Amino acid sequence: MDRILDLILFLLPIYVANAIPVVLGGGAPLDFGLRMPDGQRLLGDSKTIRGFLAGVIAGTAAGGVIALVYRLPFFIDPRMQFLGGFIVALGTMCGDAMGSFIKRRFKVGSGRPFILDSIFFVVIALVLVYPFVLPGLYDLGNLVFFLVLTIILHPLTNMIANRAGLKNVPW
Ligand code: CTP
Ligand code: MG
Repeated sequence: MDRILDLILFLLPIYVANAIPVVLGGGAPLDFGLRMPDGQRLLGDSKTIRGFLAGVIAGTAAGGVIALVYRLPFFIDPRMQFLGGFIVALGTMCGDAMGSFIKRRFKVGSGRPFILDSIFFVVIALVLVYPFVLPGLYDLGNLVFFLVLTIILHPLTNMIANRAGLKNVPW
């Protein structure tokens, strides 16, 4: 049970970073309206500077609060847990933007559902935090847990955000 709690608390900053832009995002797009030679936007209007920064700050704050009250066993040095929150929050928002970049290359419109939507941001967060954690974090069991929880939570939270009027589409 402890292990499950550890994994959930590790993922929490990632989910916070991913969710907060829906509430606090908006304004100037991260790609400044730039288009690629394929005629599509680099990232699209859904990825905003404010949303990116809000996600990184909120995810870092969530990781910081967790680090104050609970010691996660994954970090090479326990003091790295604070930095870890920032790294996974940054990874989440970069992964989110990379996901949009890929979507646009496949000519999938902003806000349209896409197979990678649910999981890409978690993968990039995990890749970016790799230098700071023990290799055991990437055990197959843990990865399956991350995958399953994210596949369940992402559509669920999107649906709730849609019902609450925060999001125009239920995905
Ligand atoms: N958002 C933002 N800035 C970001 C990321 C998200 O402002 N860097 C906000 C936008 O209002 C966006 C909403 O959060 O519409 C939902 O994010 P997401 O589902 O990632 O974007 P999509 O609208 O699905 O766009 P895309 O197709 O590019 O993923
Ligand atoms: Mg989306």
